[in-house]
Amino acid sequence: MPHAVPPAAPAEDRRSPFVRLAELLAPVAPGRAPLSAAVGEPQHAMPPFVGDVLARSLAGFGRYPRAEGTKAFRAAAAGWLSRRYALARPVDAEREVLVLNGSREGLFSAAIVARRLADARRDFGGRRPAMLLPNPFYAAYAAGAEAAGCEAVILPTTMDSGWLPDLAALTPELMARTVAIFIASPANPQGAIASPAYLAELLRACRAHGAYLFSDECYSEVYLGAEKPAGILEVAGNDVTGALAFNSLSKRSSLPGLRCGFVAGDADFLKAFLAFRWVAAPQVPEPLQEVGVAALADEAHVIASRDLYKAKFDLADRMLDGRFSYKRPGGGFFLWLDVSAAGGGEAAALKLWRDEGLRVVPGGYLARRDLTGANPCDAYVRVALVQDLAACEEVLARLLAGLA
Ligand SMILES: Cc1ncc(COP(=O)(O)O)c(C=O)c1O
Repeated sequence: MPHAVPPAAPAEDRRSPFVRLAELLAPVAPGRAPLSAAVGEPQHAMPPFVGDVLARSLAGFGRYPRAEGTKAFRAAAAGWLSRRYALARPVDAEREVLVLNGSREGLFSAAIVARRLADARRDFGGRRPAMLLPNPFYAAYAAGAEAAGCEAVILPTTMDSGWLPDLAALTPELMARTVAIFIASPANPQGAIASPAYLAELLRACRAHGAYLFSDECYSEVYLGAEKPAGILEVAGNDVTGALAFNSLSKRSSLPGLRCGFVAGDADFLKAFLAFRWVAAPQVPEPLQEVGVAALADEAHVIASRDLYKAKFDLADRMLDGRFSYKRPGGGFFLWLDVSAAGGGEAAALKLWRDEGLRVVPGGYLARRDLTGANPCDAYVRVALVQDLAACEEVLARLLAGLA
C-alpha cells in the first residue's frame, strides 16, 4: 500500500559545521597535501607587542578576574568605539561595556538573559517567543536562541536582497513575539555590509516591541573597499536602548586564541547580563585583557592586516573573474561561491578534498531549511582566505583546478 503520509523532513542538524565537515570528509583520502580554507581563523601576524605585554602582566594569572572586566579594558573598549565610530556621545565604560571571552560566548549567553528580561517585562499572549536570525548564520545565534527556549526564526537572505534579511519580513505579528534579532555586518559568510539606514530600521523595529538588537560586529575592521561598516551604537545615537554591539580582537587583531572581546550598549540590559555573568560565564584572565588594551590602542597592525585581506581579494577578483557567481564582498574574509554546476556544496567539498586536498565548508552547513523545505545554501561553498597571500593563491588555484 502506498504511504498516505509523506515522510517527515529530517530534523535540522545542529552540530558545528566543522564537526559535520570532518564527518563528511573522514572516509575520503585527500588527493594532495591537505590545505584548509574551512575555519575562519585569521592566520595574519599577531601584533608584535603581545608577548611583552603578557610578560609584564603575569601576576594577573594569580587572581580570579572580575566578571565585568578590568577598568582599563573597559576604558580601552569605550575609547576605541569613540575613535572608530561617529558616536553621538562617548560610551560610559562603567555602565555600558563588559568584557567577553570572545564574542561567541557573549552572543550565546546574551540570548538567555534577553529571554529572562522579556519574560519579566512582556506579554507574549501565549505565542512562542522568537529570536530572528539571518539565513545563513553564525551557529551561536541559533544555539543561544534555542538554549533560551525561543523559536529560532530564520530570515532568508539572497543575492537580490543584498545578502541581508528583507526588512519586510519583520511583520508586527512576528515582532510581537520577538525577543531579539541577531545581525552581522559584515556578514559571515557573504560579507554583506548593512547600511546605517538598514540598521536604524532594525533597531526601530526592535524598540517598538521591547526587543534587543544583537549587532555582531566582529568583522567590523575587515572591510575590503572604501565603505567602513557602520556600528549599531553610532546608528542608535544618544539613547542606546535595545542596542548591543559585540566585537572582539579575534578578527581585528588576528588574535582568535586570545578569547577577548566586549559587548557595549544598553546599560539596563548589561546590568542584568553582568548579574548572569557573575554566576555563569567564563571570565577573561587579566593578562589577556592587558593584551586587549594594547591591541585596541594600536591601529597600525589593523591597517596592515586589512591591506593583506584586500590584496587577497584583488587576487580572487583576478583569478575567479566572476566564476561561481563570485563578487567581491564588502567585508569579511570569505568567498561565498555558487557551485551548483559541481553538484552543490557537499559534492564540491568532497571533490575538492578528494582531488585537491582542499578543505572548504558546504554552504548548507551554515544555514537551515526555509519555508520551501529546501536549504537555500546547499548550492554554495564557503572558502576562508585567512592564510598568507601565497597560501591563498594556492587555495584559489586548487579551487579552480578541482571545479574545472
Ligand atoms: C559572525 C561571527 N560572529 C562571531 C564569531 C566569534 O568570534 P570570537 O568568539 O572569536 O569573537 C565569529 C567567529 O568566527 C563569527 O564568524
